[in-house]
Amino acid sequence: MFTRRDLLRLGLLSTGAALIPRRAARAATLALFDDDVPTSPRTTPFVRPLPIPPTAVPTSIEPDCDVYDVEMREGVADIIPGLPTPIWGYDGITPGPTFRARFGRAFKVRQKNSLGEDTVVHLHGAHTPPDSDGHPTDFVLPGTTKEYFYPNIHPAATHWYHDHTNDFTGPNVYRGLAGMYIVHDDFEDALNLPSGDYDIPLVFQDRRFNADGSLFYNPFDHDGFLGDKFLVNGAIQPYFRVERRKYRFRLLNGSNARYYELSLSNRRPIVQIGSEGGLLPAPLSRTKIRIAMAERIDVVIDFSQYPVGTSFYLQNCLVQQDGRGPDRVVSSGCTPLVRFDVAFDAVDPSSLPNVLRPVVRANLPLGPTRTFEFERSNGAWVINGRFFDENRVDARPRFGTKEVWRLVNKSGGWHHPIHIHHDDFIILDRNGRTPPPEERGYKDTVNLAGNDVVRVEIPFHTFKGRYVFHCHNVEHEDMRMMGQFEVVD
Ligand code: C2O
Ligand code: CU
Ligand code: CU
Repeated sequence: MFTRRDLLRLGLLSTGAALIPRRAARAATLALFDDDVPTSPRTTPFVRPLPIPPTAVPTSIEPDCDVYDVEMREGVADIIPGLPTPIWGYDGITPGPTFRARFGRAFKVRQKNSLGEDTVVHLHGAHTPPDSDGHPTDFVLPGTTKEYFYPNIHPAATHWYHDHTNDFTGPNVYRGLAGMYIVHDDFEDALNLPSGDYDIPLVFQDRRFNADGSLFYNPFDHDGFLGDKFLVNGAIQPYFRVERRKYRFRLLNGSNARYYELSLSNRRPIVQIGSEGGLLPAPLSRTKIRIAMAERIDVVIDFSQYPVGTSFYLQNCLVQQDGRGPDRVVSSGCTPLVRFDVAFDAVDPSSLPNVLRPVVRANLPLGPTRTFEFERSNGAWVINGRFFDENRVDARPRFGTKEVWRLVNKSGGWHHPIHIHHDDFIILDRNGRTPPPEERGYKDTVNLAGNDVVRVEIPFHTFKGRYVFHCHNVEHEDMRMMGQFEVVD
């Protein structure tokens, strides 16, 4: 079932023989592959409405927390008409149910693993104690249940949860193990931004399908896997019928290795109000929005300026050929991702204030500056020359301090979106310059293009313990571009 080229590539790997049989065994559970990457079956765009993932419902309410039960299991998704797609999903759906939390009110999420393989659940963006963070080796074994404790002590923000299984995050997320996790708080509520039915997550993912509708994935592609179909909330190029009013959209790039540059086909601006860690100080009008894997960008689009009957697209104008990163931006021939159909009149009681939420740097003693260099080595990916090793700790920041980390891309043109667990950071500078306004909010993922050097300031004041940081091109992550830090006394 493996082609000669795959075997050659395997032979060239230097990251340890142990990984190869495991990967080969896992490959057998995925669709067969060959040197010929399939072209997905033809689909007709804009015949399906935008799916909105259901909101998770607690199983019980305890005095100090809400309890949820989720089952990681196989499911069947109706993505290409007439060709059912086997997936892995939280509660058997993809994206999984959307969690809606309130600041200060804790959740216990009991995750039952009914899949035949180890899994790990990571809550990306939240402040989570180390034993609930979803460390890549903290497995939920098949047939068991792990209880994750989420204190919800991060101010209002758009997080997401996804699989984080050591070596297998790429295939597991690709098969569907990802969902949204949204935190609300009183400060944000008081701003009266569009909410409820007008607060909509948009999860962007690319996928490639075999002729029978099953997902195609090549577990030996360590460059970064790209699909040829564009999904929003699990549907290929859906339409969304909107009212003539403001909507808040929480954009998540949930793709394995694809970058997007989003814009409206009518060239009107989109108003950005937040990044990964929550609201920006003030709304920011943008005509194009670049979004790397795992980044979140909260926006407001006001449809009241259009008459009923108007349609336009949210489109991607970025061309990408491989896992190296974006290739070029096109001005025509963009890919429409969602069609907005202005369909109903409405009154709009929501607001878009001129001032949102201040971004403040943590007032903590400054610890050492550390440098992390991201490079390619022998067909795999390293940080400071080393592969991920769960038994090695690369940095020991002291609890109650903040540090400056220099993130340096030395991989000859490859892009790496770097994500650091545990706490948000602030970008101090990008290649020696003040970052652009969209990067001046709280961030947990920052893209390193070409030869970028980005300095970030990270507070370590939430929990002690061991966390990871890594490239969020999940194929790079699986191929070892990950490190560990431990917050110590
Ligand atoms: Cu979104 Cu360590 O991951
Ligand atoms: Cu994370
Ligand atoms: Cu990378």
